[in-house]
Amino acid sequence: MEILKVCFILLSTASFLWLSESVTLTSDYYQKSCPEFRQIIQQTVTNKQITSPSTAAGTLRLLLHDCLPNGCDGSVLVSSTPFNKAERDADINLSLPGDAFDVVVRAKTALELACPDTVSCADILAVATRDLVTMVGGPYYNVLLGRRDGRVSEASTIPNALPLATSPMSEIIDIFTSRGFTLQEMVALSGAHTIGFSHCKEFSAQIYNYSKSPPYDSQYNPRFAQGLQKACSGFENNPTLSVFNDIMTPNKFDNSYFQILPKGLGILKSDHGLYNDWRTRPFVEAYAADENKFFSDFARAMEKLSNYEVITGNQGEIRHRCDAIN
Ligand code: HEM
Repeated sequence: MEILKVCFILLSTASFLWLSESVTLTSDYYQKSCPEFRQIIQQTVTNKQITSPSTAAGTLRLLLHDCLPNGCDGSVLVSSTPFNKAERDADINLSLPGDAFDVVVRAKTALELACPDTVSCADILAVATRDLVTMVGGPYYNVLLGRRDGRVSEASTIPNALPLATSPMSEIIDIFTSRGFTLQEMVALSGAHTIGFSHCKEFSAQIYNYSKSPPYDSQYNPRFAQGLQKACSGFENNPTLSVFNDIMTPNKFDNSYFQILPKGLGILKSDHGLYNDWRTRPFVEAYAADENKFFSDFARAMEKLSNYEVITGNQGEIRHRCDAIN
């Protein structure tokens, strides 16, 4: 009897382990339950990007801000309630653009009509980001499916989980490496700054304090700094003032971001930091010289970021609306 009992415990533990390990993301997750999945997302993002060209950059940043703090579970999409201050109301997330949330909401609405209660908001965000990156010229990468939506979203979990533009490089590096990303992956991912904007308040403290003669590699190119001062004049009264992250090809996903850094044409202190720090400079130089290498490393790092600490199986839920926990 005792032996039977032990066998039963061993067997049930083994099957539990097997079950929990077998639930992973797959590429054909919605093939039967929602065959229109890919087409609906593709159509939604195409329409949105054409009417609001800043959507691609905003959505890419939204994915980072969803995934890095506590996994890709769509928790950044949840709105605050009178009882809970949600992640999206954490200070650093207040500048996430409405268009990025909107593209996810649009895709979710269309998907709920086609296949109710089936597709997670976390999967929508991951696939929409990939499609948008590709649309603006970036590399295609594979996004596995089957993420579930998280049931927790708390603003208090965000500080220290995302890099600030003014953080020392060691802190920025720590945020990525403590989550299992290599330095090379961190630099490749930062190539995301080849598109999109930064608000003046993110870098204004640095643009009055720059070296007046070459080499400019530690700070801003002086003429560029003067240009930024002009573009940002009066930003205290107009907080919407912003400038392109990559002044050369702001709307095109390419390796020009890495080429402008050595010229002192980066916008954020952290952009300059990537070139100035001996640990990250070799990767900046490699990507500046070879766009194919940047694209293949970026694609691999995005796949990894999109899968970071996902929840699957019977964890979490499929949210009815992306902005509210069921
Ligand atoms: C290395 C550390 C990083 C820091 C300190 C940083 C910081 C920032 C800041 C301050 C902005 C400006 C936000 C605004 O003013 O609205 C920004 C924009 C952006 N960031 Fe980063 N970022 C980092 C890495 C990344 C990574 C790894 C990605 C994506 C994988 C990313 C994607 C973006 C995008 C696409 C934008 C433009 C957003 C838009 O146009 O709405 N960033 N980042």
